[in-house]
Amino acid sequence: MCSPSSRPSLASDAPIGIFDSGIGGLTVAHAMAQAMPAERMLYFGDTAHMPYGDRSPELVRTYSVRIAQYLKDEGCKAIVIACNSASATAREAVAEAVGPDTPVIDVVQPVVGDLVARAVRRIGIIGTRATIGSGIYGRSLVAAMAAEPGDGLTDSGARVEEWPTPLLASLIEEGWQDHPLMLPVIRSYLDAAGWMTEGRATLDALVLGCTHYPLAWEAFRTVAGPDVELVDGPAIVARAVAQELDRRGLSSEAKSAKAADHQFLVSDLTENFKRSSERFFGTEIPLNPGGPWFKG
Ligand code: DGL
Repeated sequence: MCSPSSRPSLASDAPIGIFDSGIGGLTVAHAMAQAMPAERMLYFGDTAHMPYGDRSPELVRTYSVRIAQYLKDEGCKAIVIACNSASATAREAVAEAVGPDTPVIDVVQPVVGDLVARAVRRIGIIGTRATIGSGIYGRSLVAAMAAEPGDGLTDSGARVEEWPTPLLASLIEEGWQDHPLMLPVIRSYLDAAGWMTEGRATLDALVLGCTHYPLAWEAFRTVAGPDVELVDGPAIVARAVAQELDRRGLSSEAKSAKAADHQFLVSDLTENFKRSSERFFGTEIPLNPGGPWFKG
């Protein structure tokens, strides 16, 4: 995309670098394309090393830093960590690696900010083992609501609880987001978390803390019931990216970006990833092999 001679350096017309363990982050890329039609994106999915959700924090950090450096070297003006597992474990390491002139936006803090601003009270958070094991959502919410971390209760009286749901990303990756089997699996998890009473979730909001989960929106809605707010992470993150670019004077001045200006790379390209990428982005996209580990 950017040859060394033409590489823009932090110019507003440079692409936004965005990465995930695989193709789940395309839900965030799609929300960004909708919210910021003038921005170009360079997306990288580390399909060769997924799932990050079952890897150690050290390994996720190693992969994430390498990818962020690659995106910066390609001339990206900002880095979006479109993966909850990487956001939970590697945000500081990524920010340190790319330096203060390159904004880094993760998918956790914008959602935390949104919930705090709206004073949502009983919050359930689901995600991979890496995300939930890190305790990042609970810790950040409790800290932002200015209380001592501990029992999940904040001084504003909000209750924050986290529960790992490791099977869900694989089922969605497999295209089973609308399969009848999704319902008992989601119900079992919410039940085990202690959030179900009389067939409905007793939460004010359920945070879908994995970039795959928005694809199964209807299944979550069916199980949780009509009164639970499903938190739309990708849309919130897209707004946060737009605000950060604006704040730093990095927003594109182009009228609009053509879809052809986006670039979508994965570290291991299979037919299945090609097929699935359309479901995650909403339209067909040209997925190509590339990125930091590519020796093409
Ligand atoms: N996209 C990842 C996330 O948001 C889930 C998939 C994985 O485990 O790699 O956590």
